[in-house]
Amino acid sequence: MTRAWNFSAGPAALPEDVLRQAQEELLDWRGAGCSVMEMSHRGKDFMAILDAAESGLRELLDIPDSYKALFLQGGATQQFAQIPLNLLAGRSADYIVTGAWSQKAFKEAARVAGGAGSIRCAATTEASGFTRLPVMEEIRLDPFAAYLHVCTNETIHGVEITAERIAATGVPLVADMSSHILSRPVPVEKFGLIYAGAQKNIGPSGVTLVIIHQDLLGMAPLTLPTVMDYAVQAENGSMLNTPPTFAIYVAGLVFQWLKRQGGLPAMAAINAEKAAMLYAAIDDSGGFYSNPVDADCRSRMNVPFTLADARLDAAFLEQAKTARLLGLKGHKSVGGMRASLYNAVSIEAVKVLVEFMGDFAKRNG
Ligand SMILES: Cc1ncc(COP(=O)(O)O)c(C=O)c1O
Repeated sequence: MTRAWNFSAGPAALPEDVLRQAQEELLDWRGAGCSVMEMSHRGKDFMAILDAAESGLRELLDIPDSYKALFLQGGATQQFAQIPLNLLAGRSADYIVTGAWSQKAFKEAARVAGGAGSIRCAATTEASGFTRLPVMEEIRLDPFAAYLHVCTNETIHGVEITAERIAATGVPLVADMSSHILSRPVPVEKFGLIYAGAQKNIGPSGVTLVIIHQDLLGMAPLTLPTVMDYAVQAENGSMLNTPPTFAIYVAGLVFQWLKRQGGLPAMAAINAEKAAMLYAAIDDSGGFYSNPVDADCRSRMNVPFTLADARLDAAFLEQAKTARLLGLKGHKSVGGMRASLYNAVSIEAVKVLVEFMGDFAKRNG
């Protein structure tokens, strides 16, 4: 068996150690006599798995006690609707649109909010092709908004907003961190709600993380389906109904693996090194490769790039595949290539990619 170098945007590479541990424990989880997939979610074994996953996450992100950490379903896409349904409470909300994902969140919120104008676009960089962040003068905030929504890492456009750049606005900040959560430390207390689909930096698809401040619980209308109500989910410890047990188990293994790597400060250093290596390869290619994003907001996790001659795209992907480099095709809306450098993608993997890119440029430039 030879595992390839996997740069998929998601579902994405998982740490090999985690996959091996899951494999070892697959048939008989620690003497339970069955796999995690086959045990009751209400039994003490699974309760221990869920508790360990939650405490691992809390430790990694240093989540204050005033926040609940929920393991839900429906993906980040469900959160696009669930957030306004829970938090609007008859008010409006502001959205900053910096790429395809915050735009989807904005449109879905407008759809479920019904009332015209209750979901406001506070700023958008669409006219610049989502290659930069809005400057302060472009952002028009409503001081009475129920919340302000941002996507702190745009997986398709490769634009990242670091927490240091975010100033307090007086309204709860809601952030889609699907594609860079756990890639570096985050001051959770700056946010009212953080959410993320798991299949990039957390674990397998099927579980969705919601970290919510207790003050934002209990605001949903009584007509909201119970399963969508954060307060009910929190009261039930994410166990209102059967949770995605295997995905939570693997996420827990990933959290343990991250702790063994030195936690998020260590991951931040590794991720910075990987991203610097790849951006340098792009910027120093004499125009053979290019990335259009402003240098100060380039994502460390998702690096879109194009070849100057798009007729070479197919050959690039074909030869990359032969070299065991997977998942490099760019999203259809932006074209070109994209390399996702999540936590489980090693420095060695990025070295192999950069070498391949240099070699391909030499042969075709
Ligand atoms: C930033 C971001 N938000 C939301 C989503 C949608 O996530 P899901 O497929 O889990 O609904 C994605 C998926 O790639 C994403 O990258």
